[in-house]
Order: sequence, then structure tokens, then C-alpha cells
Amino acid sequence: MASRRDNDLGTPPKHGPETVQLTIDGQPVSVPSGTSVMRAAASIDTRIPKLCATDRLEAFGSCRMCLVEIEGRKGTPASCTTPVEAGMAVSTQTPRLEALRRGVMELYISDHPLDCLTCSANGDCELQDTAGEVGLREVRYGFEGENHLAEPVDTSNPYFQFDGSKCIVCSRCVRACDEIQGTLALTVDSRGFDSKISASLDEGFFDSECVSCGACVQVCPTATLMEKSVVEHGQPRRSVKTTCAYCGVGCSFIAELQGDEVVRMTPDTEGGANEGHSCVKGRFAWGYASHPDRVLKPMVREAITDAWREVEWDEAIAFAATRFKAIQSEHGTGAIGGITSSRCTNEEVYVVQKMVRAAFGNNNVDTCARVCHSPTGYGLKNTFGTSAGTQDFRSVDEADVILVIGANPTDAHPVFASRMKQRLRTGAKLIVIDPRATDLVRSPHIQADHHLQLRPGTNVAVVNALAHVIVTEERVNTRFVAERCEDESFARWAEFIAGEENSPEAVEAISGVPAETLRQAARLYAGGSNGAIYYGLGVTEHSQGSSMVMGMANLAMATGNIGRNGVGVNPLRGQNNVQGSCDMGSFPHEFPGYRHVSDEATRALFAEAWSQDLSEEPGLRIPNMLSAALDGSFKGLFVQGEDIAQSDPDTQNVQAALRAMDCVIVQDLFLNETAAFAHVFLPGTAFLEKDGTFINAERRINRVRPAMPEKQGLSEWETVCRLARAMGYHMAYPDAAAIMDEIAALTPSFAGVSFDRLDREGSVQWPCNDSAPQGTPIMHVDGFVRGKGRFMLTQFIPTEEKASRRFPLLLTTGRILSQYNVGAQTRRTENSRWHEEDVLQIHPVDAETRGLKEGDMVSLSSRKGAVSIRATISERVPPGVVYTTFHHPDSGANVVTTELSDWATNCPEYKVTAVQVAPVNMPSDWQRNRAESQRKHDAITAE
Ligand code: SF4
Ligand code: SF4
Ligand code: SF4
Ligand code: FES
Repeated sequence: MASRRDNDLGTPPKHGPETVQLTIDGQPVSVPSGTSVMRAAASIDTRIPKLCATDRLEAFGSCRMCLVEIEGRKGTPASCTTPVEAGMAVSTQTPRLEALRRGVMELYISDHPLDCLTCSANGDCELQDTAGEVGLREVRYGFEGENHLAEPVDTSNPYFQFDGSKCIVCSRCVRACDEIQGTLALTVDSRGFDSKISASLDEGFFDSECVSCGACVQVCPTATLMEKSVVEHGQPRRSVKTTCAYCGVGCSFIAELQGDEVVRMTPDTEGGANEGHSCVKGRFAWGYASHPDRVLKPMVREAITDAWREVEWDEAIAFAATRFKAIQSEHGTGAIGGITSSRCTNEEVYVVQKMVRAAFGNNNVDTCARVCHSPTGYGLKNTFGTSAGTQDFRSVDEADVILVIGANPTDAHPVFASRMKQRLRTGAKLIVIDPRATDLVRSPHIQADHHLQLRPGTNVAVVNALAHVIVTEERVNTRFVAERCEDESFARWAEFIAGEENSPEAVEAISGVPAETLRQAARLYAGGSNGAIYYGLGVTEHSQGSSMVMGMANLAMATGNIGRNGVGVNPLRGQNNVQGSCDMGSFPHEFPGYRHVSDEATRALFAEAWSQDLSEEPGLRIPNMLSAALDGSFKGLFVQGEDIAQSDPDTQNVQAALRAMDCVIVQDLFLNETAAFAHVFLPGTAFLEKDGTFINAERRINRVRPAMPEKQGLSEWETVCRLARAMGYHMAYPDAAAIMDEIAALTPSFAGVSFDRLDREGSVQWPCNDSAPQGTPIMHVDGFVRGKGRFMLTQFIPTEEKASRRFPLLLTTGRILSQYNVGAQTRRTENSRWHEEDVLQIHPVDAETRGLKEGDMVSLSSRKGAVSIRATISERVPPGVVYTTFHHPDSGANVVTTELSDWATNCPEYKVTAVQVAPVNMPSDWQRNRAESQRKHDAITAE
């Protein structure tokens, strides 16, 4: 297996304006100015020994291993810190250099444990390799004097350890934490012989500010920082390139294995989205894939009060098909439907929507994107003409003003956040619009220029006020608007937005953001050369989510911030494949590629390819399916990799709807909350077993490759094909690649995509077709997808959910770094050590008026329900606002969220719920009932 260090060129690439010519060991070399001598040598395959240098970090020049001689210069400069100069004549191998390097190495080794044969890094250690390279044969200095061999091992982090006895204080780890991750958790304490690496204030890694991203472990040249999995199992023997299955950043990884056991996940330096970086989830939290809770046999039961019965695949499929067909003959074709999962591959999602349309004979298919980014689809399609973000992640490197709205990338999109923070540290300005003071508002070396701490539910008023300032102060980019946008829609919008009701003064009263702050923020955004908007669920999960997306698009068009690097409107997608699940036709009104089911030509295309007449009637959305179930007209649901009983709002309503159905089929890894209402359980596959593609927030199509066989014996797409066939519709593919071939043949923006191409070239960003053969990193460069950009009116209409005397606080929700969504995966890993339970953040003033102390249990109640939860007192939330995460089912955050939703897409209004908080010392009724049903459920499952 090739070493992950094989291609390290020593120092990062430089792109100086000139080409410099020099000679190294007599060989001519040409490199861009600014390149180091070390990298120039590497470019002609001349390896200069090194320890403190790596091409992932700026050179530091501390180890003195990489010395060279340069004609006409005194001494032996370090090649990693010496830039090339025209005409330089460099020697890298002379007797003097060899002696010097051996001497330096001898000193290192004289204070290093000589346990190479039993060391976990044996075979993957740069110190060992370099000692061999420089020809070290003897160590003249003994260990009698002072040394570091008794330094303790810090094992506090659940995933990696720090063995101080092996540290050569090269400071790669410190620089990785600063330069790559941006957390600045590590320092070199003391000087000279006493120098040592310390996490925060020598607290140990677990208690320090370390966020466990693994960047330091990856760059450590010795076994000092080492994955515990490698310490326990030894070095990996084979590897498979694949893609993280957690968030929408879509990091590429190399899964490193021994047999079918993963030993390490190494972020891929060639990964288009992450360029070698990762977060704690993708890097370390993969253990859930082999967790004993995983269900590996299909199961059925007559009623949800019965015990599950393990059966063979054929019996489970026949049972499910018989039930679904019986429902259709009794209640009609439209009485069943399906939900696709944004956790699954495009190929798995595609076959589910095809099964619904072709085998079920209706369009009752929806996706979990309904509850997160459906307003993005609606808003960006109406303004720009396509339902996707406009930029690649690299684009942020060129942004001058960054506007982050309703997003907390440090926790939810950590690898992109690191990149954004690098840009902020080098001078970009930052505006944060969020009710909470997220990490971005203030973190090491970062301070937002403006934090618009608005009242939850007033996003649209705030974006209108920003646009008002831009229009009334004549800061519109008139040339861009005249050339690229519709005159009429702009004129109508400009008149609307200039209205007094949108002025900062009027909006101050609504949002609580001072008018002067609104004005300054608008001027800053409009005045930057490149203004980039990044947003998250704090934009979409509102009753005016779609209006807000259009409001941001209006703002970008009015200022000309679209169609080049450094600008754009960028949704930070939550789940790994939320973009893909939408692209694949998961909405009830759209075929793959966002084409309406009523469009005759598109329907004819699919009908012919699928050999089946297709319905022109849009199907039911998830909330409509649930209401129809309560009305008795919707009786059967196929749920792919989604836990609607936990993730969807108004839990008690969702549970009642599921209970009212005759057949619920759940395809998942674990018996989740929804499975408690299921009649058929079809075991799913973990990402390490899948063959397919995911699409990240940049529209980047990444390959997901199987690192091991399916533990339950069947791919998810094949399971769905079998169910479709049992329902009477022939659907079969030889492999996942053939599914992508069908997608490409039927979907213009995917026309140039195939597994072969992705395997050959790496990832590609759609559209990828004859007009864009290399894919499309930046959208709308010469024109909008819809032709001219359309300004949409975005009148602010306050949500019906208001604080009242009974419910005086507003609850908003969000995510935390270590957990993921409903926690089904991360709760089954050591990540729970960072976040064992959901807690409620409450401002000190609100806590005091309620007599609350840190850590008290409180009742959190809304007009929908109540739960008990632990409170933490925090100034991250302003008075009048409380905040919690939703990762643990027993905290039941969605018991209190309401039925209100976005006017255009029904995306639930998770981000605004009027609540009361009061001291309590017992679980809520809902929690007691849940615990009781869980107990019964466990008892019948165990039978
Ligand atoms: S822990 Fe590793 S990377 Fe950090 S200083 Fe020590 S040897 Fe270098
Ligand atoms: S794991 Fe990441 S955050 Fe923690 S010390 Fe290492 S680089 Fe810094
Ligand atoms: S940032 Fe997202 S995609 Fe990348 S490793 Fe973390 S969870 Fe996975
Ligand atoms: S590699 Fe150049 S000084 Fe360490």
C-alpha cells in the first residue's frame, strides 16, 4: 500500500508571477517564483531529508534536517525556508551535508525511545524513514542524561493519543491546528530542551479547545499523535477512496483497512471539497457502521404491537408488496407513497422515486429536504433559474465581504468553516445575521464586523432593510442589473424595497437590530469588490423561508455579486446528499433535473425510458401524506433512511399519522423512532458498503465506493428494485453504474457523468454536459440559467408564532459539532462524550427571573407539547430567546415545535416556537410515555 506521505513535496505550492530557473545537483529546474528550494528539488524527484516540513503547511525551518549548499552563499541554509532565485546552483548531497544531517538525526534519536519494532507507526514514521535516509548507523550519546523518555501519554481524547516521549517538537501539529483547522488549540510551551507541545493550557486534549478534527494527527511525522485504532490494530493494509456520509461539505476520504475492518479514515488531499482536511465526524465517527444495534436481517410483523419476526429477504419483500397492493386495491392508487433520504446515494434515491412513479403509479414521493432546504430550491429557481448554490468552496478564498446568515458553519459545516476562517484571518470582512452569537461572531483572531442579532422570525425584514439601504443610497450595481437582470422585475422590486416599511428605522422596531447597524452592514456588503452570501437552515426553516432565499438572491443581483469567484448565494447543505436527493426527482412535482411532472415532453421521455405510463398530477408532500393518513385516505409509506418520528416537527402529530397507516416500511440501519410504527423493516447499508455517488453543497458529484461487502447481504437499490418487481413493475440493473447511466441519459445537467469518468478524473460539478464538458464550478457566469435574473418581491409577513404572556420566549434550534442530526450514527460512537444530552441555552436574565441555576432541569413547553431538558445559562442567546439542539430522541425537541411552515414549500418553521421555561424535577408526560413505549418495544423486540 502506498504511504500517504509518498507525495509530500515539502512545502506548499507557490504561484509567483515569474518562472525562475536554477540548477539543483547540476540539473536545470524551472519553477514559479516564491517556490522553496526543497519543493523545486522535489519537482525533479530529488528528495531532501526533512522533518518539520510538509507541503500542507508553511515552512517553519526548525529541524535543520533539510540543509543544502548554495554556490556563493555561506553556510548551509534550510531548503524548506529558502526561496529559489534565478541562476542559483544548489547542492543537496555533499559529504558535509550528509555529516551535518547525520549529526542532527543522532541528537533526535538519542532522546527517542528505541522501540521501532513495537511502535504503532512502524513502517509509517518519517523519523524512522529519515534516519535510514541519512544513513544513521550509531548513536554515540546514551540516554543517561536528561531526556523525555518518561513523558506521559495523554489518552484523554477518545480517538487519538499523544505520547510525549516520541515528540520531536517539530511543531507541525501546532501549525496544522492554526493554519488548516483554525482552532489554535496547541502551543509549544517553554524553550530549548524543555519545549513541549501543550493543548490549550496544558489541560489534556479532551478538556482543551481541541475539536478533534485530526489535522495534527495527520501531519505528525512520528507516533506521538496517533489514532487509537492504529495503536490497537496496527497499520492498515489496503485502502479505498470514498466520501464522508455526514454533512453537505462532502469530504473525500481514504478508508484504510485491515481485511474488512476500518483502521483509519484519512482525509484525501486530492478531495475537491476538503483538500485533505476533515472534522471529527468523518475522520473518527465511523464506528456506528459495525455497532451491535445494527439490524442485519429483514423483519416483519402484522401489527405494531406485535414482536418483530426475522425473515429472509424474499419473504419480507413479498410481505411488503402484498400489503401495499392490498392498500391500493382498497383505497386507490394514491393511498401509498415514499420518502427518499438525503443520507442515501443518488442511485438509491433515484430508484425509490422511480418505484413510486412507475410501480406505485403516483407521484407521492417527497424527501427529507422538505424539512430543510426546500425553500432553497424554490427561491433560487425563481430568481436564478436553478435550484442550487452558485459557487465552489474555493471561491470563498476570493471573497472580500462574507455575509453568513442563519448558519453556524463551525459546528455544522466544519471543514468549510476552516476555509472561511482562513480567509477571514487574511482580511475579509464578516457580517453575521443570527439570533445567537455563534462561534464565528468571535473566535481566535476573528471578530465579526457586524453581528445583526435579530429576533427569530424577522429575517425577511432584515434582508429587505439591507436592500433598502442599497437602493435608496444608490449603491445598486446598475451595469450588472441592466445587462444581466429583467428590467421590469427590477423596477418593480426597487420601488417596493424603497418603501418606508423596509427602512432600517422601521425594521429596527421589528427585528431589534439597530438601524445604524443595518445601514453599516448594507454599505459594507455593497461596497466590497466581492460579496459572498452563505446561509443555512436559519434561513429556510421559517414560514417565510422561500421569501428569505429570494431576498438574498435579490441582494446579490442588485450588487452584482453573482457569476464569478468570490461572490454568490450559497446554501450550506445539511445532509451529505441533500443536493443529490433533490436533483434525483424526490419532490412530488418534479422528475429528476427539476422538470415538472405536468410537462408533457418530460413525462413522455421518462414514460418511454421506463416503459410505463406516468401520472401528470403532482403527488403529496410529507405533511400532506401525514394529514391524509389522519383522514384515512393514505395508508402505506416506504421510508428510506429517514426518521420522521424524530426529525419532523410536531412529533405527536407525526406519530399519530404513522400509527394510522396499515403498512409502514422502514429501510434503515437501526430500529429508529419511526420503526416503532413500522410493519416491515428492511436493513440498510452503511456508507462504507455503498457503491454510488453523493452530491455536496457545491454541486460536486463524488464517488462513494464500497470498502467492504454489505453486512446484511443486499444493496439498498437492489432491495428497492425487488420491491418494485414484487409490485408488478420490472425494474432491474446490473450494478449502480448502470443506474447513473440512466440518470445521465434522462437528465441534461448530468449528461456527461458516469462512474468511469468519476473514477478517472475525480469529482465533477454539475451541470456537466456538452455545454460544460468539464463541469461547472461557478454558475451563472455569462448569464443566468433562466436567461435574465428575476427580482422577486419579498414582503415581510410576520409568522403567526408569536411570544405571548403564556409563552413569552422564542425557541430556536441548531446543531453541534460532535453530533449529527437525529444522532442515529453519532450517538453510537464516542462522539457522545462531547455531547451526552441536548441542553437548553437561556440568557442569564431569563434564568434569573425564573430562579434557574446552571444545570437545572426545566420544563420547556409550547402550545404543542412539553419536554424536560437541562438548562445552561449562556450569553450566546439574547434575552427572550432560548436555543437547543435536537440530536437525542429522549429530549424530544420536536415535541414542542409547531405545524407552521414555509408558505411556498411547507418547510417546517423549526426556528421559531413560542415557549415557556420553568423549573421542574421530573420528565414530561411525553417523555414518560416514550420511556414506557420504549420499554414495551424493547421487550417485544427481545422476545
Ligand atoms: S506531536 Fe508530532 S507533530 Fe507535534 S511537535 Fe511532536 S512530533 Fe511534531
Ligand atoms: S485535533 Fe484538530 S483541533 Fe485538535 S489539536 Fe489537533 S488540529 Fe487542533
Ligand atoms: S465536514 Fe462534513 S463531510 Fe467533512 S468530514 Fe465533517 S461531517 Fe464529513
Ligand atoms: S525540514 Fe527544513 S528545517 Fe525542518
